[in-house]
Amino acid sequence: MKAVAHPLRAALIAQAGGVAVAGLALLAFTPLRDQPLLAVALQAGVAAVTALFQRAPPWWLAIHLGFMPLLLLARRLHLPPLAWLAGFVVLYLIFGRTDKSRVPLYLTNAATAREIAVLLAPTFQRVIDLGCGNGGLLRQLAHLRPDCRFVGYEHAPLTWLWARVMCRHLPNVDIRYGSFWTHPLKDYDLVYAFLSPAPMAELWTKARKEMQRGARLVSNSFAVPEIRPERLIEVADRRRTRLHCYRPGG
Ligand SMILES: C[S@@+](CC[C@H](N)C(=O)[O-])C[C@H]1O[C@@H](n2cnc3c(N)ncnc32)[C@H](O)[C@@H]1O
Repeated sequence: MKAVAHPLRAALIAQAGGVAVAGLALLAFTPLRDQPLLAVALQAGVAAVTALFQRAPPWWLAIHLGFMPLLLLARRLHLPPLAWLAGFVVLYLIFGRTDKSRVPLYLTNAATAREIAVLLAPTFQRVIDLGCGNGGLLRQLAHLRPDCRFVGYEHAPLTWLWARVMCRHLPNVDIRYGSFWTHPLKDYDLVYAFLSPAPMAELWTKARKEMQRGARLVSNSFAVPEIRPERLIEVADRRRTRLHCYRPGG
């Protein structure tokens, strides 16, 4: 089967397939009605197998296997309906754009921030974090290099607010709301990206067009396909972070 292009649509199809099979099984085998755990396990199993046929990335299998069983467990907590709504709204304000951007939220650690600071020249530097999350990296860099200027773009509303609040006392950090794709990169000495494999080829095209000669593009963990980095930095942290450094402007 061909991979389904839109991950949310694919997930819905897999879940609905599981519900349909479990529903039919409940109709056909009445003893199953006294075994809700068995019915839920069947639903989860069918959803996971459907995801396998969709050639979904491996983490989707874990999501499908866990989704309905966790829902069943959560129902036993007897939470008020507003708690579900609040949970949905919070998650939406953080992850609502992930289906299109294909970039979830995870954060750069302190050891990696220190390595990035080493990459900055001793003179005044302008740095941008494309998708700055909670602004944690920019905060650390701003403390290490108060003489430099740092800009962060974030398109998830709640994450952006988080970054704004956390960076409010730092005069050399500017957190902006919106997509970095519409922001030109020509003014930056270092462009930092911790995204995912999905946007790397497009980011390279943008960086090649806009970045100045000598300016650095540093990508945490995700390489630009088919482009050799000018430097590969292995950070001595637990997750063995790799920083792929490029000079898109030559
Ligand atoms: C993996 S996190 C990295 C966060 C931060 N840069 C760090 O290293 O700690 C990626 C962030 O990029 C944001 N993001 C993804 N695509 C974006 C876009 N087009 N414009 C702005 N933010 C984006 C996501 O919402 C997420 O917060």
